[in-house]
Amino acid sequence: MSLINRQWLINDRPRGRPILENDFRWTEGGVVGPGPGEALVRTRYLSFDPAQKGWMENLGGYMAPTEIGDVMRGSGVGEVISSNVPGLVPGDMVTGLLGWQDYATRSGRELTKVADDDLLTANLGVLGTTGMTAFFGLNKIGLPFVGDTLVVTGAGGATGSIAGQIGKLAGCRVIGVAGGERKCRWLVEELGFDEAIDYKAENLASRIAELAPGGIDVLWDNVGGSIFNELLGYIALHARVVVCGGISRYELGEMPAGPENYFNLVFKRARMEGLIVIDYMAEFAWARARLAAWIREGRLRYQEDVQEGLENAPKTLARLFTGENFGKQLLKVA
Ligand SMILES: NC(=O)c1ccc[n+]([C@@H]2O[C@H](COP(=O)([O-])OP(=O)(O)OC[C@H]3O[C@@H](n4cnc5c(N)ncnc54)[C@H](OP(=O)(O)O)[C@@H]3O)[C@@H](O)[C@H]2O)c1
Repeated sequence: MSLINRQWLINDRPRGRPILENDFRWTEGGVVGPGPGEALVRTRYLSFDPAQKGWMENLGGYMAPTEIGDVMRGSGVGEVISSNVPGLVPGDMVTGLLGWQDYATRSGRELTKVADDDLLTANLGVLGTTGMTAFFGLNKIGLPFVGDTLVVTGAGGATGSIAGQIGKLAGCRVIGVAGGERKCRWLVEELGFDEAIDYKAENLASRIAELAPGGIDVLWDNVGGSIFNELLGYIALHARVVVCGGISRYELGEMPAGPENYFNLVFKRARMEGLIVIDYMAEFAWARARLAAWIREGRLRYQEDVQEGLENAPKTLARLFTGENFGKQLLKVA
């Protein structure tokens, strides 16, 4: 039986603007069987991450560059169809950078075997990159102490919602900043955040002054821009500022000047540090086990937003930049 591989290729670089459908090109071709040391994997679910826009633009330099005509890079979970990799047999489920396509041929070291259980898709979110980012970024850079006030921006999203909950487990008072009443209500009523601020409807400065009168001990930032600058003005003495992302910048052409309030780092003897999650890859396994245990014990919750159909991949990526996604953005491929 000959298999058809539907693929989205990179067609343009969305620098300084939102993603457009034309940035991708649809193609259909055949499937080549796996070579020595490789497995053929059928993609089941794809993960969507704001960084993918940066990968198309070759920003950051922490990943291999992309080329126009490449299959769009993206992580996914899939089923092994045939395998020349010791330890992988047909039917096994694996994660890896499968790309926006039905079938991917990957070497054994590019794939991680995962259990085919109720947490299968969680391997792309809370047990995958976003969960690992929250876990290591908060614990190793944010250094939360019992009683600290932790403020998380982008709190309604995949990374922010987990960072805030880990902060609660560490004994912090957690305030989330998110867009819209639905996300804010979910943070407080379902995830146990102490407070949530709707940055689209409320005055962030006056709300944070009211909710964090002693200042922000740990600031977790996913968004950058004016929200981040505003919050830098409210950090406490010896605060730790974790720069995880800056999604408000990802569609800008000209970058704005740096945050005016950065000098508060001096007045407050505070520290600001960025992270790239892949630096902690060697430690992912034990962190994953800990997060999975918290999920099973009901101490950590997660939300997935599952779109359907490979043909909708470009539209699905765009949802992250409009805030339409509610939880970890996934797409069921077939
Ligand atoms: N450093 C690392 O290693 C690493 C790893 C993973 C992710 N990240 C970063 O973490 C951040 C969150 O990623 P994620 O995968 O968890 O996505 P996500 O938070 O699930 O989705 C993105 C969210 O960003 C918010 N947003 C979009 N445009 C915005 C703007 N202009 N101002 C304020 N908020 C905006 C939207 O929420 P609202 O509805 O609240 O606006 C949207 O739902 C991104 O910046 C990403 O690059 C970094």
